[in-house]
Amino acid sequence: MASTLWDKGGVSDALMMRYTARDDFRLDQRLLAYDLKATAAHVRGLGRIGVLNADEVQKLTAALGDLAVENAEGRFLLTERDEDGHTAIEMRLQDRLGDVGKKVHTGRSRNDQVLVAMRLYERDAIDEIATHAIVGARALLDLAEREARTAMPGYTHLQRAVPSTVGYWAAAIAEGLEGSLFSLAAARSLVDQSPLGGAAGFGVNLPLDRDGVSKDLGFARVAVNPLASQSSRGIVEAMVLSACFHAMAVVRRFAWDISLFTMSEMGFVKLDDALTTGSSIMPQKRNPDVIELMRAACSVVVGALNEVQTIVALPSGYHRDLQLTKGPTMRGLDETIATVSLVPRVLKGMTLDRARLAAAVTPECFATDKAVDLAVAGVPFREAYKKVAAEISGLAQGDPLASIDARTSFGSPGNLGLDELARRISELEKSFAVA
Ligand code: ARG
Repeated sequence: MASTLWDKGGVSDALMMRYTARDDFRLDQRLLAYDLKATAAHVRGLGRIGVLNADEVQKLTAALGDLAVENAEGRFLLTERDEDGHTAIEMRLQDRLGDVGKKVHTGRSRNDQVLVAMRLYERDAIDEIATHAIVGARALLDLAEREARTAMPGYTHLQRAVPSTVGYWAAAIAEGLEGSLFSLAAARSLVDQSPLGGAAGFGVNLPLDRDGVSKDLGFARVAVNPLASQSSRGIVEAMVLSACFHAMAVVRRFAWDISLFTMSEMGFVKLDDALTTGSSIMPQKRNPDVIELMRAACSVVVGALNEVQTIVALPSGYHRDLQLTKGPTMRGLDETIATVSLVPRVLKGMTLDRARLAAAVTPECFATDKAVDLAVAGVPFREAYKKVAAEISGLAQGDPLASIDARTSFGSPGNLGLDELARRISELEKSFAVA
């Protein structure tokens, strides 16, 4: 282990050091860019209140800029010998700038340092997920428009129910993703508060320019009470992962549906060879493994969420337990980005078998229409229902598209409301910094 920031001359036990540092060198590698950026903002803030002079600010920010370049080029690598990324940054500043480097941590603790780095990282990750969700939702709306008159059964309990369309199904998934944008936007505003200046959780005896540092880092506002910020670590991450769950539960349903649609017995959809894998023993097989893993990926996020939720059962203030919220948060965000981004790719690789879709709209699917028609003609609905039920086996085949066209109330298969959905997605898009 390289020396620590808190080294006071005592002997540390190597096993204890490894046990406490764990995989921070790997996780903090991903936070380095954010940590460097926040450190530079902290330094500029110290300059504004005269704790560092202009020359020191210049030296420190220049060295931090160099480290950022080295990090971007893969030359600032943390190793098992680094306790964490925060230590690695300060050690390098000390190596390069001597005493000036030793001033960087004035008025700061690793507790607010890791908090700010996590929030900057999470804000970017949420924006990335939202971008994918928006692209996916729009691709689904395009499919909905193209296939607005492609008949298929609508199912309840996985049993054929009423005539529907592929467009209606696609619009439903699109609206599911649109719903997840509300959760992602809420998680984003929670994250978008600067904790810097809180130090170990109780402020410091310096007139820190918290607001200036917050603005410098592009945060929407300063988190007010440092003890609240410290104690929010993990709870905020759980909300971020819950928003991920929202998107992932929609994608899981999408994947489930496609896996059913591609099943030989349904045969509604064929997936491009590029989206399938083979069997090592059954020569004829083309399996939709990608779809199945998109379905299972939701469980990774739920597992991560659960891990974080149980860790945060703590009293107020910083506790080292909180370090263990970092891994699951990154795992959940990674899984969400990787999975949600696949939605448009899957849509592109799908070929519809329109004949099989239409053929599945069998006569009994028209039973409800028939009962409603009778009710409109004056037969009390319950009577009409019983009459149609008694004649089910003799029901004539109907015209699915005529049935669709008759369902004109807003949002129904005959009136998808795609423009309204597109408008709502564009409205929600404003909550994110989308690429
Ligand atoms: N690796 C630590 C974490 O993620 C950094 C903060 C350490 N703070 C402390 N007081 N030991 O929580």
